[in-house]
Amino acid sequence: MRFDVLTLFPETFAGYLGQSLLKRAIEAGLVEVHTHDVRRWARDKHHSVDDRPFGGGPGMVMKVDVVVECVEEVQTYQADPGHLVMLTPQGRRLDQPAVERLAEHRRLLLLCGRYEGFDERIREILRPEEISIGDFVLNGGEVAAMAVIDAVIRLVPGVLGDEDSSGQDSFSPPGRLLEFAQYTRPREYRGLKVPEVLLSGDHQAVARWRETNSLERTRRRRADLLGESIDEKTQANDH
Ligand code: 6GU
Repeated sequence: MRFDVLTLFPETFAGYLGQSLLKRAIEAGLVEVHTHDVRRWARDKHHSVDDRPFGGGPGMVMKVDVVVECVEEVQTYQADPGHLVMLTPQGRRLDQPAVERLAEHRRLLLLCGRYEGFDERIREILRPEEISIGDFVLNGGEVAAMAVIDAVIRLVPGVLGDEDSSGQDSFSPPGRLLEFAQYTRPREYRGLKVPEVLLSGDHQAVARWRETNSLERTRRRRADLLGESIDEKTQANDH
């Protein structure tokens, strides 16, 4: 899996890329992350990458020529031009099914914006998939791009190792529920005991407890995830 990040702030990624899980994946050749400084494609002597909006108003807008030429050149670095993702609060909200779809690509180009946004013609010319990581505003797409990389690499075979595979994560298929409650030693702390069934060694009983726990917390915390199938899931798991 190869990521090409197009950003005005490539330094932002250094710390994240040095993180142990990602570092191991990169060293094992499972993941590549290349950052590209969009400013390199600036054309004027001031190296402008943004300009004031026509029609007036606050903030600055990313320039169409600079961004389009940056993306088009980075696409040519590989035979596979990759799938272009624009990080913007105006995009479709990222969720686990979207992460799963992104993970199907062998190459992703992540275009990070800063300032007030992108010249609309960038969208018309490049037709990116636009992604937001939630209904709030960040100063730029960099943190969102890191969130995309972080979520996608969990699904790249070999990155997590068998020990902690992503199969039981919250939002994972088939149920797409929140993960069940977890405990580790000690068995008792400040009077709070680990549920007996988890110590029983009865794998079927443990599996049943976890399924119920998962459904219960999803119902309490995120009923929206249960949607229309709430009755089916409830009936299937209520004993
Ligand atoms: Cl992808 N970018 C920005 N600037 N703000 C956001 C976002 C992205 N997702 C949520 N807020």
